Amino acid sequence: MIFRQLFDSVSGTYTYLLASRRGGEALIIDPVIEKVERYLQLIKELDLKLVKAVDTHLHADHVTGLGALRDRTHCITVMGERSNVDVVSMRLSEGDKLTIEGVALDVLYTPGHTDDSYSFLMRDCVFTGDTLLIRGTGRTDFQNGDARAQYDSIFNKLLKLPDDTLIYPAHDYKGETVSTIGEEKAFNPRLQVKSIDAYVELMAKLNLPNPKMMDVAVPANMRVGFAQEAIAQRGWAVSATDAIGLIGKRDVALIDLRETREREKHGIIPGSLHAPYPDLAAHVRPGGMLHELASATGKRMLFYCAFGERSAMAVQAAQDAGLSTACHIHGGLDAWTKASGPLVR
Ligand SMILES: [Fe+2]
Repeated sequence: MIFRQLFDSVSGTYTYLLASRRGGEALIIDPVIEKVERYLQLIKELDLKLVKAVDTHLHADHVTGLGALRDRTHCITVMGERSNVDVVSMRLSEGDKLTIEGVALDVLYTPGHTDDSYSFLMRDCVFTGDTLLIRGTGRTDFQNGDARAQYDSIFNKLLKLPDDTLIYPAHDYKGETVSTIGEEKAFNPRLQVKSIDAYVELMAKLNLPNPKMMDVAVPANMRVGFAQEAIAQRGWAVSATDAIGLIGKRDVALIDLRETREREKHGIIPGSLHAPYPDLAAHVRPGGMLHELASATGKRMLFYCAFGERSAMAVQAAQDAGLSTACHIHGGLDAWTKASGPLVR
């Protein structure tokens, strides 16, 4: 197992790089834009392939590295379903699993610091974002923060984990790197309250100044989506409404780039093939399944995914590999569902 805790001293942010082995797939949690070159260097040195970049919530104190990492590595960007961000490649909710090769994290919805705060549990480690910090808790006074919800997330979810569970937060300002559930139960001053009302009162009295970067970071972090318009301008996009008319057409191959779990949860466009996005490069190069399918049949390759981001990157990769008929459904299954496109489950 590769586990790296990286630190941005300007914002006091911890970023985590996870992989099951050297040479394997990697996942990064809460990357900071200024540190992207450092992450890419480390990923190269460890011979890793970055496949997912995840934010625990919409950050107010630094600009996320999600968009830059996606642009540089074509990885999948991931946030919770409650996030106000414009577009990410994949959205998760409580009970989902965040997976890469050899690593699986359980998704916990832990609102309170913000209404889009999620924690991720990996065996005996929990990545708590800004919900539960070491000897502290995330502020609850902006971005739809709610001290009541945070009390519930901490006391009724995180503190129910075994006492020896290791806590890896998104921030620390005093140099602490890790704690445990048992330690925080005993020594976190914010958690020594007798009731939810006492916690709400304690949080209301903090009177913290806004983060210095807030006015820059929040708007920037809300616009992290891949520029699908650039793909559309090249004539490589089909609207969901037009795509509905292409179902069953013999000269079109619909290709679903999502993971099995997403297909089971949200449904499948009838007649589509399944080719998960992380394997795409192998499929579109000469000799690959999709390359040969397109050459042999002359079919138009119509990619789709959840929100149109993975499929937009897939179109670019396929066009680069010489598949001139490759296009995608703009806005993905989300747009398809809004256009009342049929689904099978
Ligand atoms: Fe935060």
